[in-house]
Amino acid sequence: MGLVNTKKMFEMAYKNGYAIGAFNVNNMEITQGIIDAVAEEKAPLILQISRGAREYAKNSYLKAIINVVVEENPDIPVAINLDHGDNFQTCKEFVDDGFTSVMIDASSKPFEENIRITKEVVKYAHARDVVVEAELGQLGGIEEDVVGVDHDDVGKHLADPNQVEEFVNKTGVDSLAVAIGTSHGAYKFKKEPKLAFDVIREIADRLPGFPLVMHGSSSVLKEFVDLINKYGGKMPNAMGVPEDAVSKASKMAVCKVNIDTDLRLALTAKIRQVFAEKPGEFDPRKYLGPGRDAIKAMVKHKLHVLGCAGKATECK
Ligand code: G3H
Ligand code: 13P
Ligand code: ZN
Repeated sequence: MGLVNTKKMFEMAYKNGYAIGAFNVNNMEITQGIIDAVAEEKAPLILQISRGAREYAKNSYLKAIINVVVEENPDIPVAINLDHGDNFQTCKEFVDDGFTSVMIDASSKPFEENIRITKEVVKYAHARDVVVEAELGQLGGIEEDVVGVDHDDVGKHLADPNQVEEFVNKTGVDSLAVAIGTSHGAYKFKKEPKLAFDVIREIADRLPGFPLVMHGSSSVLKEFVDLINKYGGKMPNAMGVPEDAVSKASKMAVCKVNIDTDLRLALTAKIRQVFAEKPGEFDPRKYLGPGRDAIKAMVKHKLHVLGCAGKATECK
């Protein structure tokens, strides 16, 4: 099967209480690590590309790699999503590039403006069988091209369930990223991690069957942070979303869980380890290879946390 959009995946995920992993890709090794895990676990897959990833590797290169993923894995439903599209023009470019899903993130704009921009993207995308994700509330953390609110202020910018019904009805959007206390990056919480499950519950009551998306969902696994710190890195107080919280949300209305930081940490930890243990190593295959293996093992584990392992067939 060719690339698919996320309609069937979300329908099955909602109905059967699991979430689809949406993994960010920036190069070949990351993509291979992910697909090797997904193929072994027979899970549905969403691959996503940020504007920063497009700038780094170009859509043409990343799309060519993803086309190979699709060709070589006919039993795995694969969707490809633009992560954090910033305006109509960017979303249009990704739709025209053959993406099957785009996210318009106008969450920093006033509510009415967010509705207007999202509606414009939905009109263009739906005419081409492409689905649209939008965002309400604001996440914390700063990535290369995705700027959020200060970590200390995350709690003040949660999605407002009162606005969700109006937003979804007015825009016709297919899924919604809702801020429930997570942040992008490796420093998500200063104290006890806390997610607003009541926000998810309230939205699900108001809009039964409507798929939600959880951004900033990496768990910042201790195994990799410890390796990074052991081998010359410096990541004190790194903290992610506990995996039991990710599992809990996945059983609720959350149908898509975004993971990027955990991929970055796995790759970086292994590369650091190789360089520390073999200072003379200069063959990229000898350090990118172990990084790719670490990504594969990590993703295999994640698919069980999300509950989507073994669900490829029912999502086709
Ligand atoms: O949501 C943010 C993703 O981790 C992408 O980050 O803009 O650095 O590629 P990036
Ligand atoms: P993490 O930084 O927690 O991996 O979140 C990634 C994300 O939300 C991409 O949109
Ligand atoms: Zn995000």
